[in-house]
Amino acid sequence: MGNEEIIKMLNADITGEIEAILTYLRHQFVCGICEISRTMEEIAIDEMRHLEWLSETVVDLGGIPTIEHAQLNLEGEDVPSMLKRDVGLEEMAINQYQEHINAIDDPKIKRLLTKIMNEEIEHKEEFSDKLNELPENVAKEPTLTIGSLKEGGEK
Ligand SMILES: [Fe+2]
Ligand SMILES: [Fe+2]
Repeated sequence: MGNEEIIKMLNADITGEIEAILTYLRHQFVCGICEISRTMEEIAIDEMRHLEWLSETVVDLGGIPTIEHAQLNLEGEDVPSMLKRDVGLEEMAINQYQEHINAIDDPKIKRLLTKIMNEEIEHKEEFSDKLNELPENVAKEPTLTIGSLKEGGEK
């Protein structure tokens, strides 16, 4: 496989990382439950490290790291919907990294993608745990939204 093909794959991975960062930061701000917000923030920071490693690798291969991301899906901003979406993003990432690990021969890049994929597996577990730990009543309460932050101040 030529460098160009590898760059294409890594840029697809970067696109996913940017989508995850933006989604988790948004969820962190609106989720309204401190402990879950902190988890979202920590995981977003992990994704920023992934973005950096992948971008450095693209540059090393002579490519230009993308700054594109998929259209953000921010519907359904109650806490369970957010956590389900986050679990889904991690699942997509795990599948894509596995495909790319299988497709790419370069041992160094394979190692990097495996390291990232293992962190995505941990993220998926963390988000799933948070989702499973949600008490029934919290799951049904409306969430603090950006709108109510602007209008109401404290809640
Ligand atoms: Fe990541
Ligand atoms: Fe992740």
